[in-house]
Amino acid sequence: MAQFLRTMISSKSNFDLQRIGQYTFTQNEETGFDLFLAEGGALGVGGADCFHCHGHAGMQMSDYLFHNNGLDAHFAADPGLAAITGNPLDSGRFKTPTLRNIELTAPYMHDGRFATLEEVIDHYNTGGVISQTIDPFMEAAGGGLFLDDTDKQQVIAFLKTLTDTSFINNPAFSDPH
Ligand code: HEC
Repeated sequence: MAQFLRTMISSKSNFDLQRIGQYTFTQNEETGFDLFLAEGGALGVGGADCFHCHGHAGMQMSDYLFHNNGLDAHFAADPGLAAITGNPLDSGRFKTPTLRNIELTAPYMHDGRFATLEEVIDHYNTGGVISQTIDPFMEAAGGGLFLDDTDKQQVIAFLKTLTDTSFINNPAFSDPH
């Protein structure tokens, strides 16, 4: 089982191919990637501010750490990491997921509260809900990012470059029965 799982590597998305010079981003994808990597909010440069947590350095679009990305103000019913550690400072913190193949894995967030990527971007565009444990990397909390409709569509165009159709259609990973 462990050996089989290690064969499940998604590495042929347009994002990957672009890195090795075998795909050219469209203008929207390119601008979306720039927005993804740029600081946002009042002190930013009009970016979407995604990269702090969904970093691209390891090509996984995740730091695999736990953050409160501003979904809720109260955590009694759904404490997140605090349910495991018992530490109130972990309330509302969830593990950053990879964004690979994100186009295909709706609904979004741990409780599936967002049905579409548009809803996800709208959430981040508000800056998130302020609470005692909201992450410092939610830099636009309180004021919001300033993404207009074009910016939002461009970020989504970039996210869709992370879709790897050769991976999801690989017969080696299909139901053997
Ligand atoms: C403060 C860190 C942080 C920042 C900044 C951040 N995210 Fe996230 N993101 C998270 C965490 C943590 C989750 C998981 C939350 C959960 O499970 O409820 C998440 C979840 C998501 C999801 C849903 C993933 C899934 O499989 O359900 C998407 C899509 C996403 N983020 C995209 C973005 C985009 C686009 C940006 C920039 C506009 C961004 N994120 C900024 C930490 C962050």
